[in-house]
Amino acid sequence: MPTAPNDPAQPLTFPAGFVLGSATAAYQIEGAAAEDGRGPSIWDTFSRTPGKTWNGDTGDVAADHYHRLEADLDLMASLGLRAYRFSIAWPRIQPTGRGPANPKGLDFYSRLVDGLLDRGIAPVATLYHWDLPQALEDAGGWTNRATAHAFAEYARIVGQSLGDRVAIWTTLNEPWCSAYLGYGSGAHAPGRTDGAAALTAVHHLNLAHGLAVQQLRAVTTNDPQYSVTLNFHVLRGRGDGGKEAVRRIDALANRSFTDPLLRGHYPADLLEDTAEVTDWAFVQDGDLAQIHQPLDLLGVNYYATTAVRLWDGATSRQNHDGHKDMGGSPWPGSPQVEFVEQPGPHTAMGWNIDPDGLEELLLDLHTRFPDQPLVVTENGAAFDDRVTARADGSYAVHDPERVDYLHRHLAAAHRALTSGVDLRGYFVWSLMDNFEWGYGYSKRFGIVHVDYETQRRTLKDSALWYRDLAVTGSIPP
Ligand code: NOJ
Repeated sequence: MPTAPNDPAQPLTFPAGFVLGSATAAYQIEGAAAEDGRGPSIWDTFSRTPGKTWNGDTGDVAADHYHRLEADLDLMASLGLRAYRFSIAWPRIQPTGRGPANPKGLDFYSRLVDGLLDRGIAPVATLYHWDLPQALEDAGGWTNRATAHAFAEYARIVGQSLGDRVAIWTTLNEPWCSAYLGYGSGAHAPGRTDGAAALTAVHHLNLAHGLAVQQLRAVTTNDPQYSVTLNFHVLRGRGDGGKEAVRRIDALANRSFTDPLLRGHYPADLLEDTAEVTDWAFVQDGDLAQIHQPLDLLGVNYYATTAVRLWDGATSRQNHDGHKDMGGSPWPGSPQVEFVEQPGPHTAMGWNIDPDGLEELLLDLHTRFPDQPLVVTENGAAFDDRVTARADGSYAVHDPERVDYLHRHLAAAHRALTSGVDLRGYFVWSLMDNFEWGYGYSKRFGIVHVDYETQRRTLKDSALWYRDLAVTGSIPP
């Protein structure tokens, strides 16, 4: 349960060393999709398939970050960011997901890391933010165990190149999306719709994580921290069977990752609930020991809560889970659960705004994993931003809803800290507007506005607000 509200008389100051940063991902901002030896990824294929993304949008150009690296680094510095969370595009490093490293790919991320360090910004690198090399998908993708071993090899290559400078390594970003949206609902690349494949992918992603952590540990030289980032479903049960509905989705969405990664086993109820879909024979002897690696940080992505109730079978089932209209049900088998629209206010994604959910989540994780330090690796909101011209010819974006969203979620994170949660940092999603996957460029999450015609960057009011926070360490009024 949430604790008492913040005392308005007290400034909300984060402890010294608390990391305040921003986050992006390679495919969402880089563009330069066919340059310097980059191979195709599943998102190139998927986004070029008619009907898969809004307006047929692709990441071919995106925010053109690949060509604007120095200017974007200066932008980050101007915002006083203490850390920057980015992802490395596997197909830039190994164009087919296997074989020798592509030096130009490594060079780009080496320049990025050096540019961050030169500006006093800690580099936080994610190895996998969904852009699987297409050649690996052609061999089965995450349903193929060999992909986990290929990922470990990739981790080693990247670790050998950047492992003297990266501060925090994150293996996977939101493996729930990779598995359940990629192989279950088909809303994300590679767009498959097979429940058994989704659960197979869950396991191979978990295995990939464990193998990659071990490879990184073997080659890094600067004593970095290791982490994984999960998108937790904060569930609200509705109706008589609400508690049971929560249990079922919690098992599929949350505990299918936390239990193997942090406890070394799959939950018994998950195996029972999915028995009609798979016998889990893809879990081999010894896998769980490989998966269960000590982690310095658990990354938490939080945007909204999810309401569920048991489905009586009489009406057509609601599959709303924050990704409505974007494919079939992501849930393997027939969990007999339906998703209930949440009351507003909502963001432009249709997601409800519920800062208490973040506090609850952090407190809950702290209770379940008391020795596990946490970091909010993503939190933010999309709104329909408008650029206005000032009298002096410069541009502005007034986004009071985003400022309010960030303010309230940071206050919730601060309450969790005050209650004793070992929370080490917060990264706003996102530094700049970008390719929002199936929604293409129709949704803007940035604190910096990107004009996709001209690639002009404009600081939104939320960026100025966040700069105050990053510089002072206190939540601005
Ligand atoms: C989670 C993902 O990690 C990120 O890629 C995405 O843009 C945001 N959430 C917003 O949906």
